[in-house]
Amino acid sequence: MAELAISAKDLKKTYTDGTNSLEVLKGIDLEIKQGEIAALTGPSGAGKSTLLHILGLMDQATSGTLNVFGQDPSGLEEPEKDLIRNRKVGFLFQFHYLLPSMTLLENAALPLRIAGTSAKESMEKAAVILSEVGLSQRVHHLPSRVSGGEQQRAALARAMISRPKLLICDEPTGNLDLERGEEIRQLIWNLARKENSAVIVATHNLDLAKSADRIIKIVDGRIA
Ligand SMILES: Nc1ncnc2c1ncn2[C@@H]1O[C@H](COP(=O)(O)OP(=O)(O)O)[C@@H](O)[C@H]1O
Ligand SMILES: [Mg+2]
Repeated sequence: MAELAISAKDLKKTYTDGTNSLEVLKGIDLEIKQGEIAALTGPSGAGKSTLLHILGLMDQATSGTLNVFGQDPSGLEEPEKDLIRNRKVGFLFQFHYLLPSMTLLENAALPLRIAGTSAKESMEKAAVILSEVGLSQRVHHLPSRVSGGEQQRAALARAMISRPKLLICDEPTGNLDLERGEEIRQLIWNLARKENSAVIVATHNLDLAKSADRIIKIVDGRIA
């Protein structure tokens, strides 16, 4: 039996702002196996991004239990969560969030630099992963000097440079045309399969969702 990357039980999330409160997640039960690629679908406002933030330890559920790689993040202090995010989780969003003053090589190397890896080793590994996403010829370019598809591929390289066991993607093809979207999907799938990483990807792109191992649909704060 494959190990579980994520296990969540009865996760609830309520946003409170003064006297207003909005229950966005109303009891989510979810298991993602190591190496599994799961698509997260559902209408806008259903709570997909909210769930991804919780699974990626960027936010906390209001109640329920969560296990990420066998650990319950609710008992962890921020520095410990930072460490897990840095070492074990990769993030890819609709926008690339590359740092504009750094080359693609420096951007891709950043998670390793933050983890304390030497500049030399970080740059070497960045060059390797950039070549895996087809950017060998662009390593010294600034983000503004490459195309949207290339920016997203560089963001994927940065997300995967630590070879994380979990990759969280929030609308990764949302800013790309169909062809560029399919390109990034294939790269995500290839890298994840190679590293046996679990992937959870929120998307409106039906082709992308259909090529996942499993589709998880959220409707009105619950899994349909
Ligand atoms: N930080 C926040 N504070 C208050 N409400 C929020 C916050 N983030 C999201 N929401 C609300 O939660 C609901 C779900 O949002 P979200 O998780 O972004 O949905 P999705 O990603 O499926 O479109 C929406 O109604 C949104 O307005
Ligand atoms: Mg969203």
